Amino acid sequence: MTVLTDVDGLDEAAAAAELADLAAALGQANHAYHTNDSPDITDAEYDALKRRNAAIEARFPHLKREDSPSEKVGAPVAEGFGKVTHAVAMLSLSNAFDDTDINEFDGRVRKYLGLGSDVAVNYTAEPKIDGLSLSLRYEKGRLVQAATRGDGAVGENVTANALTIADVPAKLERAPELLEVRGEVYMSHADFEALNRRQLEAGAKTFANPRNAAAGSLRQLDSDITKSRPLRFFAYAWGALSDPLADTQMGAIERLRALGLSTNPLTSLCAGPAELVAHYRTIEEQRATLGYDIDGVVYKVDDLALQERLGFRSTTPRWAIAHKFPAELAWTRLESIDVQVGRTGALSPVARLMPVTVGGVTVSNATLHNEDYIAGSDSKGQTIRDGKDIRVGDWVQVYRAGDVIPKVADVDLKKRPPDAVPYVFPETCPECDSLAVREPGDAVRRCTGGLICPAQAVEKLKHFVSRAAFDIEGLGAKQVEQFYADTWIKEPADIFFLRQRFGSGLQQLKNREGWGEKSANNLFDAIDEKRTISLSRLIFSLGIRHVGEAASNMIARHYGSWERFDAAMQSVGESGSSAWEDLIGIDGVGGVMAQSLTQAFAQQAERASIDRLVAELSIQPVERPTTAGSPVAGKTVVFTGTLEKMTRAEAKARAERLGAKVSGSVSSKTDLVIAGPGAGSKAKKAAELGVDVIDEDSWLALIASK
Ligand code: IVH
Repeated sequence: MTVLTDVDGLDEAAAAAELADLAAALGQANHAYHTNDSPDITDAEYDALKRRNAAIEARFPHLKREDSPSEKVGAPVAEGFGKVTHAVAMLSLSNAFDDTDINEFDGRVRKYLGLGSDVAVNYTAEPKIDGLSLSLRYEKGRLVQAATRGDGAVGENVTANALTIADVPAKLERAPELLEVRGEVYMSHADFEALNRRQLEAGAKTFANPRNAAAGSLRQLDSDITKSRPLRFFAYAWGALSDPLADTQMGAIERLRALGLSTNPLTSLCAGPAELVAHYRTIEEQRATLGYDIDGVVYKVDDLALQERLGFRSTTPRWAIAHKFPAELAWTRLESIDVQVGRTGALSPVARLMPVTVGGVTVSNATLHNEDYIAGSDSKGQTIRDGKDIRVGDWVQVYRAGDVIPKVADVDLKKRPPDAVPYVFPETCPECDSLAVREPGDAVRRCTGGLICPAQAVEKLKHFVSRAAFDIEGLGAKQVEQFYADTWIKEPADIFFLRQRFGSGLQQLKNREGWGEKSANNLFDAIDEKRTISLSRLIFSLGIRHVGEAASNMIARHYGSWERFDAAMQSVGESGSSAWEDLIGIDGVGGVMAQSLTQAFAQQAERASIDRLVAELSIQPVERPTTAGSPVAGKTVVFTGTLEKMTRAEAKARAERLGAKVSGSVSSKTDLVIAGPGAGSKAKKAAELGVDVIDEDSWLALIASK
């Protein structure tokens, strides 16, 4: 969308009419963004409309409307949450888009303060986090209230939800009597992708981007849902205060960090606009690898006394500005749709695009997610993109956020070629022709070929040699593809027969480009080195659906040895066996994962392939930490409710170091339940079973001497 800011040719009547249209369009966009967490226009489009509005208002000040969008921040609070009137209003930032705007900003600041051109003003520069702002009110060091921005004056009370965020401390030591910390709640790319995967698997709604996921997760009426979503928080400002934090912005941020709040490591002090712009470029270069979305860089006058003097315009401070990044969006032609088959048989449609630059990176492939996404609906059958389907030949919008895989976000129907036909998703595997089926509730169609499907077999092998799995030096994805094509490696066990296969006659391998006697022997040595492997790596390397690295660790620690794990997998389906209960009792293993594991081991071909592999290996049992004298060694403990002194992850790691087994559910095997505020059904079940329940302080006292 091009929105002109040149208003010279506009007469009064046209200007008034356009201001009315802009007020309506921006009002609608605000509602979609703030109240529904589901933006209907891009940030760039929103900014362009705001700029157009500001330009017309500057030219015709007397036409400025009572409901002018330039006076508004955010949207009214949603129903369902308690209301919080902010002691100090939560304001917005004005935007800058190019270097000239930054020079002008500095000029305005110095002019306002009456400084001569020889006096430089210091500024801080820090990433503008693309999340949603949150105000945390601490009284005597205790978090008493957390509120969203809302319309800037009144926000939503989300205290219970904020307390579930690991970066939000429930208590601060040595904090001022009253301290309102302000900052941004956000979700990392990795957590966003994992959440969307989980949502898909559960047949629930997926989120368009990490910011919507963060907003949707924080604004849940049930804080247990928020708790299950990995939100993070960066502190960057403050509201009401009983004592000043410091004399400078930088000092205040350092103080917040010293109090235990998470602050952004890319915050830097700059002397004047040239240094600001230089830091902007540095941050822009790192943008793709930060692991979370940022949409610009925020500059703030460093001296707090100067900030005080500069004060605010109606909705924005004079002492700060957001230097926005250009949008990472582009339009291009969809040339074809390929369907790739993954390790677990999932058929993933990939858009082959006419190459286009998106935010400085050339994009020629983008994900199309699944067949419903192409057809214009989400996993629940609700329409997305107003129901527009995606066709080969279409003009499509490509969206790229940081290092998230680019995706096709929209279609321009006006440019659709007349002969474009709806895309028909294959119902057989494009690699092995086996039937590809969709389980009820699954958005993904999967090839049923299992190990006979070459694509699944190769992807499984690639996973097997990947870094977190066997990590064999000299045997990466490329070599695996080559060896598979040569039929030298068809399954993991074959890797361990390579030396034997070639014996002393390396000729066959040496004929291959890139292989000589030395490199071949090096490869065989590297393979032999990995014959001894830890149990957790082995479990992960099997590439069983849903069983990731963290879960493999948990499972390995639970069973301790391959023999015990294997025995459990054998007996899990037998009637009267407690193996299933035991498996789903492992913290981090849910029903879906347990089912997937059980199924893999029950399939004869898969089972035989695992047995052939295991015969070649020496699997190290899990080393139990020395826990002599530990009061909880060998005990099964369950944490529930909110922990106030440390994160759940830390509590768990500590318990495990002391030889305890940490479980996610309470059963007759549980020895101890540590229940924090908000503990619900687990504490109740423990009471029913007569299991000891203690609070966090008693737990800390119990393990204190360790
Ligand atoms: S300072 C008085 N610093 O951007 C203004 N805001 O467009 C205080 N944001 O409402 C805000 N990162 O939600 C500030 N490093 C940062 C930020 C930041 C993200 C958000 C915040 C604010 C919005 C303004």
